[in-house]
Amino acid sequence: MFRFIPARGGSKSDLHAGLRDAALAITDGERDAVANMANLAALLWQFLPDLNWAGFYRRIGDELVLGPFAGKPACVRIPVGGGVCGRAAAEGTTQIVPDVDAFPGHIACDAASRSELVVPVFRDGVVVAVIDLDSPLPARFDEDDARGIEALAVAIADRI
Ligand code: SME
Repeated sequence: MFRFIPARGGSKSDLHAGLRDAALAITDGERDAVANMANLAALLWQFLPDLNWAGFYRRIGDELVLGPFAGKPACVRIPVGGGVCGRAAAEGTTQIVPDVDAFPGHIACDAASRSELVVPVFRDGVVVAVIDLDSPLPARFDEDDARGIEALAVAIADRI
């Protein structure tokens, strides 16, 4: 059994560092990408507060295809360049969206979502997936969240 217990009252950067270490521990020695993404989605879902969706989309050709996640059933295919996830994949840049209704082309999978963070995962300089986090709170994600999830994405890139 894997145990991850974040320090109580710790800072957000402590939580992110702990999550990155936990992500490495939970995927250590496992070569199955689906199993690893499933556990990583569950980890993010359990320990990041105020989320209503957490998971992966994998880049397959010109599309992003739904991967393991926690939350409500979601859109299966997103064109690269479409929505928040597609822009992150097309540009290879993290997208912090404080108000999803103000993002042109945002794809609403859960009407409860108010803000979103999407972080690309790179392998050999190419975007192979994105990590998508949605929140029912406006402006839930800031630059610290982006840097924390980016560090996690780098850490697990060759395990998904
Ligand atoms: N909102 C995303 C779609 C994925 S769902 O949030 C799970 C987007 O605009 O790309």
